[in-house]
Amino acid sequence: ELTLKEKAKFNIGAAIRTAYLQEEDYKNTLLENFSQITAEYEMKMEVIWESPTSFNWEKSDELVNFAQENNLDVHGHTLIWYRSFPEWFKQANYDSTAFENHIKNYITTVVTRYKDKVKSWDVVNEVFADQGGYREEEIILPVFNDPIAFYGRCFQYAKEADPDALLFYNDYSVVLDGGKRNAIKDMVNRFQAENYPIDGLGDQFHYRENTPKPTMKEGFEDMASTGLLVHISEMDIIMNLDKSPNYDFNEVEAEKQKQTYKYIVEMYEDLPANQKFAISLWGITDKYTWLSDYWSENIHPLLFDANYKKKPAYEGFLEGL
Ligand code: XIL
Repeated sequence: ELTLKEKAKFNIGAAIRTAYLQEEDYKNTLLENFSQITAEYEMKMEVIWESPTSFNWEKSDELVNFAQENNLDVHGHTLIWYRSFPEWFKQANYDSTAFENHIKNYITTVVTRYKDKVKSWDVVNEVFADQGGYREEEIILPVFNDPIAFYGRCFQYAKEADPDALLFYNDYSVVLDGGKRNAIKDMVNRFQAENYPIDGLGDQFHYRENTPKPTMKEGFEDMASTGLLVHISEMDIIMNLDKSPNYDFNEVEAEKQKQTYKYIVEMYEDLPANQKFAISLWGITDKYTWLSDYWSENIHPLLFDANYKKKPAYEGFLEGL
């Protein structure tokens, strides 16, 4: 049987943590099935950016070096995310000039370091609130009266540092939330009108087995109507919707999850070839999923079970390719 990366005509990615690479099964499952990696946490602002002029490259270098040694692409995640600004930055209460100078230096330093190694970046992550409008984060809004222009300049800084890197805007619920999707499309139109560079859009795809498929498909096609690259960037499919401790992930449940993964992959395969980029899972194995903290235990969201055994979801994903 072909593995996912052998059968796919685009990158199959996984979010990883370098600490897990010591585990043989984790590393082997990654190398056999995936062609791209995303740092689940270790390339976020608060991990790298220790002070205005000091950067901690330990984890990000380990991840990028591993990718280089194992012929994996790296998707850089994420240069700007309101939830991962370092504390020292937030305490500084910079005015807009100082704020932007520091951000420009950060983006330029990080993207330059990984030029030609990190092939694509989530330059900005999760800017818009649900239903559209700006997210009420306490960082960027109060400083800039035109946040979209600021974000456009962030894309420009990344482009200047690595003209070959593909630059993405990333968010969640893009295909389900029409208000948010329209805000994103408006931003794309503005970027293109004002010559800010953008190559692609990511929808994280943190969905559930009961996420309405027709809504998903309609929103996906609308997202693709921008003509940009489309990235399913952090996919996991939550089971156990009511977080019941004695939820039984039985064959019936596993089959529902298989069909959901298959549907999404087939939807992605319907994209025009020039808009295909990657489908990335937010993890490899049910043993390590952020949803254990963020949702509940006993959720089984990924393609491999806690013993690195292929689940029906894996077969569904493969059948969809
Ligand atoms: C999450 C990681 O999974 C956690 O380990 C970390 O503590 C916080 O960030 N959307 C995103 C990702 O874009 O960066 C988040 O990743 C999950 C939600």
